[in-house]
Amino acid sequence: MAPTAYVQPLVQSTSVFKADLFKGKVLFCTGGGSGICKGMTESMMRHGAHATIVGRNLERLQQSAKELFEKTGQQCLPAQADVRNPASLKEAVAKTIEKFGRIDFVICGAAGNFLAPISGISENAFKTVMEIDTIGSYNTVKATIDHVRAAKGAYILVSATLHYSGTPYQVHVSAAKAGVDALSAVLAVEEGPHGVRSNVISPGPIAGTEGMDRLSPKGSDGKSGLGIPAGRLGHVEDVGNATVFLFSNAASFITGQVLPVDGGSEHLRTQFLPYPQAVLDPSSVAHLIKGKL
Ligand code: COA
Repeated sequence: MAPTAYVQPLVQSTSVFKADLFKGKVLFCTGGGSGICKGMTESMMRHGAHATIVGRNLERLQQSAKELFEKTGQQCLPAQADVRNPASLKEAVAKTIEKFGRIDFVICGAAGNFLAPISGISENAFKTVMEIDTIGSYNTVKATIDHVRAAKGAYILVSATLHYSGTPYQVHVSAAKAGVDALSAVLAVEEGPHGVRSNVISPGPIAGTEGMDRLSPKGSDGKSGLGIPAGRLGHVEDVGNATVFLFSNAASFITGQVLPVDGGSEHLRTQFLPYPQAVLDPSSVAHLIKGKL
């Protein structure tokens, strides 16, 4: 019989960390209305934190806030803001302070992504992703820093692993996420003496997310652990577990770091589109791609 790979089990953070770890603490999370950032927020709320989730779509935020409250019993404030608009972010921060009185933790998670070649992406499309991911993270830090300093709190910026090498059709996101990683390093150094930590989480292939849906080839079942040392795709909860650890005092000596949560796949760098056919003849892979090329 052919040997089979070990599959690492998925474990909930509540089975490892204390349930009241973040009691009395407040999380401010951009992009928290859906996907990975909603999962990160849920993990924090399961350990007693209250949260504000920030995004562009108020209806989706309200629905998610209700769900998060029902699942965790903690309060969740939906705050509409576009991370590209500093004034709207400041308003979301003011609402958070009015409701909860403090901000201890911030997740800069709002992001945009799609597949597009350098020759095909419009200048505006490139700029849009830079504005959401990089400048949006900066705007979020700027709007929250006084409160996080006062609380001796911490930041997590959500990045990616695709810019560690040249990933075709990801020029905009690669440039934007490299900026996010750099921003966190400077934040850690400048704010460390004020008691603030900053780290980056770089999710790899996480099943059932908008990112996977946008980036994985059409027809892939989204369940394969092939090419992943941990033997499986990631789960949103895997990213939540890393979030709980990095925000906890157990990580008090960890700042300015980048933590890939990718089951080790960074070290294999499997191309998700056939190379070099995908770049020589985009039409040959158009059927694999959900977005426009
Ligand atoms: N392929 C190529 N270009 C695209 C694109 C795609 N799939 N989707 C959007 N764009 C371009 C638009 O054509 C536009 O450029 P143009 O003015 O030259 O035509 C530019 O990007 C801005 O798009 P627009 O839809 O006006 O901006 P937006 O702020 O509403 O959308 C995006 C932001 C582009 C990131 C959009 O994809 C989005 O909102 N995504 C949801 C969040 C997300 O991507 N999550 C995944 C996280 S991994």
